[in-house]
Amino acid sequence: MNNLLNVRDLRHTYVKGRIQTHAVRGVSFEVARGETIALVGESGCGKSSTARLIAGLETATSGSVSVAGHDIADIATDKRLRRLVQMVFQHSDQALDRSWNVERIVAEPLLRMDGLRLSAARTRTVAALNSVGLGDDFLSRRPRELSGGQSQRVAIARALISQPELVVLDEPTASLDQSVRTRVLDLLKRIQEERNVGYVFISHDLASVRRIADRVAVMYLGRIVEIGRTAEIFANPRHPYTQGLLRSEPPIDPAVKWEITPMKGETPSASAIPDGCAFRGRCPIADEACATVDPLLLPVGSTRQLACIHRSVDGPI
Ligand SMILES: Nc1ncnc2c1ncn2[C@@H]1O[C@H](COP(=O)(O)OP(=O)(O)OP(=O)(O)O)[C@@H](O)[C@H]1O
Ligand SMILES: [Mg+2]
Repeated sequence: MNNLLNVRDLRHTYVKGRIQTHAVRGVSFEVARGETIALVGESGCGKSSTARLIAGLETATSGSVSVAGHDIADIATDKRLRRLVQMVFQHSDQALDRSWNVERIVAEPLLRMDGLRLSAARTRTVAALNSVGLGDDFLSRRPRELSGGQSQRVAIARALISQPELVVLDEPTASLDQSVRTRVLDLLKRIQEERNVGYVFISHDLASVRRIADRVAVMYLGRIVEIGRTAEIFANPRHPYTQGLLRSEPPIDPAVKWEITPMKGETPSASAIPDGCAFRGRCPIADEACATVDPLLLPVGSTRQLACIHRSVDGPI
């Protein structure tokens, strides 16, 4: 298979004393070069855990991640391969080392991976800053002298300087106001068009997802319950959880109409996963069968997959 990213049956359980938290429970998907996939779902569904496993910052309990044909374990430990995958975090203003200037922050991957000195990296550092719309007057600034949007751009410049093929973005625009958010998203899109880089994009903001993602994966309790093309998911969500998630907000597409209905109930604990379908306690169409059958993620049509025993058949709902 010639995908950029292959994620196969990824599982991750955090163990603290006697408590086991099943954060990721068998996630599989792929990302092509130049493609953006968004991971969405309520707080605690395992988006950041999945992101960290894909970026090689944590080792999975089981399953596999490969980027450009290389296993993530090799990427994480080999300086030459490390450049393939980079990550941008939500609060980059907090993630940036406050005692360093922007030049050192942005150049750091080159210093670490290629053993370059700061002066030798200067041309590439300036080019990386320019690519995110910042001039070389930013080189000597400190993180405290940057606005939220500028910090985020510095974090993106640092992620891009090593010419990665995949960038994992975990809520990269969450701390930004709407106009800056739009600018950062447009910037990410432009960079993607220029470099054919793949993105795994995590966001609670469905309008951002709609703007940037080619495909959307909806997660619930450590699983993907629905995955498909962005426009199709937004226009015609099929899984009852996706429907609940989207319909708890006004429709983004003016051509689509629904009444705002807040989703009922709470997500069960990731330390006590229920039998059968994990969503059944909140699901408007659940019946007895859902208590015993753990639904698989199955293809519905050629572009969508769904994990629901009542909806995993082709045709109108
Ligand atoms: N380091 C950790 N140790 C123990 N449990 C963890 C750890 N990190 C996450 N978890 C648990 O794993 C589950 C998934 O968490 P994760 O942070 O991946 O969710 P998320 O979808 O990113 O949520 P959010 O939208 O709030 O960022 C949650 O139940 C969380 O409490
Ligand atoms: Mg998270």
